[in-house]
Amino acid sequence: MPTSPSLKEPIAAVLLGAGLGTRMKSARPKVLHEIAGRPMIGHVLAAIEGLAPARRVVVSGPDTQALLAGAVAPVPVAVQAERLGTADAVKAARATLDGFAVGTVFVLFGDTPFIRMETLRAMAAAREEGAGVVVLGFRAADPTGYGRLIRDEGGALARIVEHRDANAEERAVDLCNAGVMAIEAGRLFRWLDRIGNDNAKGEYYLTDIVALALADGARASVIEAAEDELLGVDSKRDLADAEARWQRARRIHAMEEEGAILLDPQSVWFSHDTALARDVSVGQNTVFGPGVTVGEGAVIKPFCHLEGCVVHAGATIGPYARLRPGSAIGEGARIGNFVEVKNARFAAGAKANHLSYIGDAEVGAEANIGAGTITCNYDGYSKYRTLIGPRAFIGSNSALVAPLEIGAGALVAAGSTVTEDVAPDALALARARQETRDGGAARFREAKAAEKAAREKKSK
Ligand code: UD1
Repeated sequence: MPTSPSLKEPIAAVLLGAGLGTRMKSARPKVLHEIAGRPMIGHVLAAIEGLAPARRVVVSGPDTQALLAGAVAPVPVAVQAERLGTADAVKAARATLDGFAVGTVFVLFGDTPFIRMETLRAMAAAREEGAGVVVLGFRAADPTGYGRLIRDEGGALARIVEHRDANAEERAVDLCNAGVMAIEAGRLFRWLDRIGNDNAKGEYYLTDIVALALADGARASVIEAAEDELLGVDSKRDLADAEARWQRARRIHAMEEEGAILLDPQSVWFSHDTALARDVSVGQNTVFGPGVTVGEGAVIKPFCHLEGCVVHAGATIGPYARLRPGSAIGEGARIGNFVEVKNARFAAGAKANHLSYIGDAEVGAEANIGAGTITCNYDGYSKYRTLIGPRAFIGSNSALVAPLEIGAGALVAAGSTVTEDVAPDALALARARQETRDGGAARFREAKAAEKAAREKKSK
């Protein structure tokens, strides 16, 4: 859809989320179920955000208010006391919209996460061109259940009729109401207050606003969008389908727009905010949680899990690595197999190639962390930091008990449990001294064999 010129009038947005979501079979409000790590209603808010709305409000049922408020803050939440229909739900936003007299009020559903900013912009532009109400429509492959957009002889929108209230002729119409509307702010509540509930469901239908606006001399128009943009999510199965669709589109974006290499696209899972630079290579079965940025040419080998971290250009991660929030992996640094990094920064060229836990740490440039190194960052009460200087070498299977500082160029002997700071270029050995007894193994075996023979004799 072509983008329209910039808008002249202010925008307000009312997001409906007071539905019961019964088919979701969940303790969580439907609109807070996530796609790509972001609640569905967050996707809708992000789409309208593109139009820089002057006011936004989310409408919740009384039971879900606190949960919704926590998730959408700083967007305010208004409460619809009883679920009396979509028109009644919009009325719950009256206080938030007080004084918003000139401009466009959008009504959006919190459970249609694929709505695009460009579509909303086209609706707002149509509203500014003089329509009192702009309705978003789509051609449904199966229109059952949707409200139908009924046009007059001249082709103009005349009214919306809900499926249950429609006659056979109206049901044959495939142009359906998506539910999203852009309404002239000055007359919104005047029209809403006139909507009644004399219909099959006994609800106050927002859709009745079209006929009322026309009766008031306003114009109503339709903007059409593709059906898959308007996909609603009603069940866990719909949620999984929506996630799969989102991921498919994101993988294409990664390859075609960001210039990343995905070795097996369908096994790479993105978050809503993943950012890949060009020539990043992502191996099979990698999952990006929220908040990951990967720099140019970095290589993520198969089976990695990353969240809340930055991987700088040319770094190598995995296979089988886990990067947790607060981590930054410097240019050309390497995090190898079965290494977990949490809230730790690796400077350029630093390495932890095998089987380590590095948490709450700073690792200097070109430092080398040996296999099996653990930063002991937690004593059951508080977290402490480990500072490892540039070019330091930590021998395999070392426990670094934080708070701790290992100086630049220092060497920690393999198997050490280090509890005291190590000065730059010092060698720290913190392990039991080895004792070797000549012939000890042979004596041990002889003793064991004698024990075994005695046991067998006794049991005969
Ligand atoms: C609505 C439209 C229908 C359209 C369809 C598209 C009306 C009357 N009908 O029907 O024309 O084809 O969407 O999906 O608008 N909600 C509240 N409070 C309420 C009732 C609903 O907040 O009292 C919210 C729900 O959370 C949901 C949205 O409004 O996000 C739609 O409500 P729902 O009852 O599912 O409407 P549909 O029957 O799908």
